[in-house]
Amino acid sequence: MNPVLQNILTIRSVRAFKKEQIPKEDLDTILLAGSYAPNGMGLQNWKFTAIQNPAIMEKVNETLRQTLLSIPIVAETHPYIVSLIEKANDKNANFLYYAPTYIIVSNLKDNGNSMPDCALAIGNMMLAAHSLGIGSCWLNQLPGLTHLPQVRELLNELDIPQDHIIYGSVVMGYSLNPPNPAAPRKDVIRVF
Ligand SMILES: Cc1cc2nc3c(=O)[nH]c(=O)nc-3n(C[C@H](O)[C@H](O)[C@H](O)COP(=O)(O)O)c2cc1C
Repeated sequence: MNPVLQNILTIRSVRAFKKEQIPKEDLDTILLAGSYAPNGMGLQNWKFTAIQNPAIMEKVNETLRQTLLSIPIVAETHPYIVSLIEKANDKNANFLYYAPTYIIVSNLKDNGNSMPDCALAIGNMMLAAHSLGIGSCWLNQLPGLTHLPQVRELLNELDIPQDHIIYGSVVMGYSLNPPNPAAPRKDVIRVF
């Protein structure tokens, strides 16, 4: 099998990381791979904001925790959000899996291509990382909280444009554990 297909078939989400940081050169290559993803009308409206500074990582995590704590739990609150809010009660909770690198992918609000553009870019970055021996996991907490004031304030500090919202984010680092086997594939393919 060629190495590109091998890379696609062996990538798994990684949720436990070594403390060791990934080299800046690899981060640059990963971000470059993201920027070469196909995107609607070739407009490249996205922005990739990578964080490796431990103090900023801590600030992101604490903003996530405090924001989650500010959300009231009502009957309609989704059980996943309830579990995150419960986790946030622990002041040591880490929502970034203690990863050394975090990439936030933002794009124009109210633009139909923004989500697919960001998803393709994140896919490229995750595959590029895997090809360099670096593990990753898509994280969906931040996108769901973009509209809340504490999170917007954080995004301002990170120079994320006012007309952008977060469509996805991804943690990266060296995996602590060997990969789990992939779940069996569902029977979803039909060829006519
Ligand atoms: C849109 C999307 C959102 C996801 N959100 C999260 C998340 O918030 N937290 C997490 O741990 N994994 C998240 N994942 C990772 C999936 O859980 C994972 O890809 C899936 O269980 C399949 O496992 P695998 O990637 O190891 O094959 C997300 C993946 C995608 C594509």
